[in-house]
Amino acid sequence: MKSTVAMFEEDPILLCLAIALLLAAILVKTYSSRPNIQKDASASTPPTTPISASKRNPGQWIPIDFKAPDPPPYPDWDVKLTKPLPYRPFKYGPTYFVTMGLRKGNFDDWIELDNEYLKFHAIKKERIETRGDKLCKTAPEALDAAIELLETLCDYLPKRYPSMFIRTSVGINNVVTDEEFNIVKRPLAEEPMKTIGRLIQDDIAIMTEGSDGQSYLKSGSIILPGFWKLEEKFNMNLSEIHTSGNVPQFREKLEKGMVNFFKRVMPDDMVIRHNYFMQVDDGLAWSHSIGPEDSPHVGWFTAEKDKVVENHWFRSERQTLRRLPRSGGVVFTIRTYFHPVTEVAKEPYVPGRLASAIRSWGDDVAKYKGSEKYKSILLEFLDEENRKQIDSGLITEDGSSPLKYPY
Ligand code: HEM
Repeated sequence: MKSTVAMFEEDPILLCLAIALLLAAILVKTYSSRPNIQKDASASTPPTTPISASKRNPGQWIPIDFKAPDPPPYPDWDVKLTKPLPYRPFKYGPTYFVTMGLRKGNFDDWIELDNEYLKFHAIKKERIETRGDKLCKTAPEALDAAIELLETLCDYLPKRYPSMFIRTSVGINNVVTDEEFNIVKRPLAEEPMKTIGRLIQDDIAIMTEGSDGQSYLKSGSIILPGFWKLEEKFNMNLSEIHTSGNVPQFREKLEKGMVNFFKRVMPDDMVIRHNYFMQVDDGLAWSHSIGPEDSPHVGWFTAEKDKVVENHWFRSERQTLRRLPRSGGVVFTIRTYFHPVTEVAKEPYVPGRLASAIRSWGDDVAKYKGSEKYKSILLEFLDEENRKQIDSGLITEDGSSPLKYPY
């Protein structure tokens, strides 16, 4: 029998074929073991069923062929008339529980826009112009996810808000603000997260999974954060993001569930959570009473105590989470609703329920939410408003509300 070397010497075509096969094998091996969650080059036609977290390697994502159903137009949506939804996500005491608070969401309601759009848009525009590189950025390994997110919004927004957005052959136009966005030209006209920031009222972040199985903040459009900065949390994993901010009971109550959730969430899931804070200033973009935005040492300790109640603002975030099917990035939206306390306290049951919720905070939660700086003035005001609602017969003496949480 001839040796392999002799066979190749006699037949150069056979030698070429063998080299080509060897190269192909090296390429397949390299791409299937890539550490960051990215498109898997060996998968030519995306499957429709995703591989479950327990069956895929950490950091690996096989693109799947999933598309959320087309949303119907938001009923009667009007940029001047549609009011912000009245989320009031606080519960009567006596006990406040720290929980993930995730509820199933509906893809149709992914992005909420209302008659504060133009106000949010103007603030965002000004901030993108003056400090955009700090507020919006994407790590190279998350660029595909950021572009996928931009494409997803260009598909969703014109269907959901047709009086404001028009889909074009190259992207999307906003007919109210008179902006045109080309998302197919390369290089892109601007950082994709800046464009995303201009399109919606939400802030938005993308988490990608590393080869250690942890989710990392790799892309963000964090323009109206109030209390934190993208620059400080960029590239951190979920645990670092939350422990660096001293989120109460994170290790005991949140960490395990959160890490597992990010590993398992699939493109056909969407979840929602709500939170709320008090502010003693009217800064939607940045709560300046905790210190200047560019200062490295900010916190409730710098805030002025016992300001008059007209300076107290109610800040509530509606957050959603879903996974992008092509890149595998997990998208976290943060839509802020921001109103003077004196306004929300006019709503039936709100002053009584908010006062009860504030009294139910444990010391750790009270410290995190800065209650020492406003508690006495705010509770006195809310108790008085609650009493007025009882006396006028608007609500019952026991304060029990027929309105369902989180409204
Ligand atoms: C399952 C998902 C998540 C849960 C359950 C969760 C939970 C929490 C909780 C309980 C807090 C305290 C304030 C509040 O009540 O909201 C918090 C704060 C925060 N979370 Fe999350 N979170 C999640 C995902 C994320 C993601 C993906 C990011 C990425 C940007 C993030 C960034 C933050 C930041 C920046 C803060 C403020 C921390 C600070 O004060 O410095 N969270 N989160």
